[in-house]
Amino acid sequence: MNADKLVVIGQGYVGLPLAMRAVEAGLDVVGLDVDAGRIKRLTVGESFVEDVGADRLGRALSSGRYHPSTEYADAEGFDICVITVPTPLRDGTPDLSFVEQAGLGIGPYVRRGCTVVLESTTYPGTTDELLRPLLETASGLHSPGDFHLGYSPERIDPGNPVWRLENTPKVVSGLDDAALHRVDEFYRRLVERTVPVGSTRVAELTKLIENTFRQVNIALINELTMLSHPLDVDVWQAIEAAGTKPFGFMSFQPGPGVGGHCLPIDPCYLSWQVRRKLGRQFRFIELANDINHEMPEHVAQRVMTGLNRTGRAVSGARLLLLGLAYKKNTGDLRDSPAVEVARRLRALGAQVHAVEPYAEAHLLPDGVVVVELTEQELRQADAVVVVTDHDSIDYDLVTRHARYVFDTRNRCHGPTVERL
Ligand SMILES: NC(=O)c1ccc[n+]([C@@H]2O[C@H](COP(=O)([O-])OP(=O)(O)OC[C@H]3O[C@@H](n4cnc5c(N)ncnc54)[C@H](O)[C@@H]3O)[C@@H](O)[C@H]2O)c1
Repeated sequence: MNADKLVVIGQGYVGLPLAMRAVEAGLDVVGLDVDAGRIKRLTVGESFVEDVGADRLGRALSSGRYHPSTEYADAEGFDICVITVPTPLRDGTPDLSFVEQAGLGIGPYVRRGCTVVLESTTYPGTTDELLRPLLETASGLHSPGDFHLGYSPERIDPGNPVWRLENTPKVVSGLDDAALHRVDEFYRRLVERTVPVGSTRVAELTKLIENTFRQVNIALINELTMLSHPLDVDVWQAIEAAGTKPFGFMSFQPGPGVGGHCLPIDPCYLSWQVRRKLGRQFRFIELANDINHEMPEHVAQRVMTGLNRTGRAVSGARLLLLGLAYKKNTGDLRDSPAVEVARRLRALGAQVHAVEPYAEAHLLPDGVVVVELTEQELRQADAVVVVTDHDSIDYDLVTRHARYVFDTRNRCHGPTVERL
């Protein structure tokens, strides 16, 4: 295969690791992004994605085969293009404007025999119904026939040291057999195992099944947790015990809510499409969203009740929140329930300090004082709330010095600790 020039559109959490992996596999890679600030940083070897260290980025740059750019003209003559732009919600509706812009940007550079793959998470039908006509109009070519078009969902799990891009099986698809073959051949250069499926729609739905399954099961455990508290049952112990069943059960943990750019959003792409095409509700998804949305308020209420038991009001209390990112070991604050917990506690009159070792300071919510984790901070706090359980936090130090800990992640133990 001669597909040596790769263009990755979007150099974020998905696109940058993909570009790095492709450079390591010997491809010539243009990393395109409309964010000039990001491209400037990448050009000088500064990575903003935790899973891509400065040393790895530096090696890619000095290989001479990684070219960060804001110019679509640099895509000229590409063999493969992978689109990894955001697919957010706007007022509850899928916002595919970034995919459209990427399609319009790359369209004029599509030529006979090249391959375009969409990786952004989206509803079934997007590659065929939305991206294909855009590329065809802009290039004057057709797919299938002149160029190849496929879809391959991303399964990247930022901060996960075990499952990385290269050892996580990659589902691949194409509009026809020739496209599937090309897409499969390309990804086999980057990952240990590919999983070819029969259509782009199947591949698009695969990603949504994975995230809907997770969203629904987390909601089930969150609701059980909210009910177990007044029933005076330790839900954490029950989950651990249930997890010993070697078949038919999979453990999910409760938490302060569900955040990030995937779990709370992707299932809505599916429920939106079901409503639009079938006029029906996807009830599981709507219910799961409702329950998970309740969690930050539940946490704020439990902290308030816990403080009350120690004779303090939340209004005027000094609280120390541990972790503000939406998941542990990352600095990603997008739709983080921890930020929502902080906002609600501030609205109740608390003075909120927070330890967040990964997120950039200017992204942190207004009014939250960012501090280092010290014995003095812990002693001065009326309550310490474990919201996002980064592994770098010293939980022994926390339990030794905090007078009251509300732990939403089951990381602290002892007489001063109350768990979600
Ligand atoms: N981050 C994850 O863990 C993850 C996992 C699986 C799937 N996904 C999906 O992958 C997609 C990308 O997510 P992400 O987390 O990498 O987003 P991100 O915001 O980190 O990165 C996307 C990048 O695309 C750029 N961009 C936007 N429009 C562009 C355009 N027209 N041309 C060039 N660049 C453009 C943005 O400036 C940004 O830097 C989304 O659909 C997301 O749902 C993300």
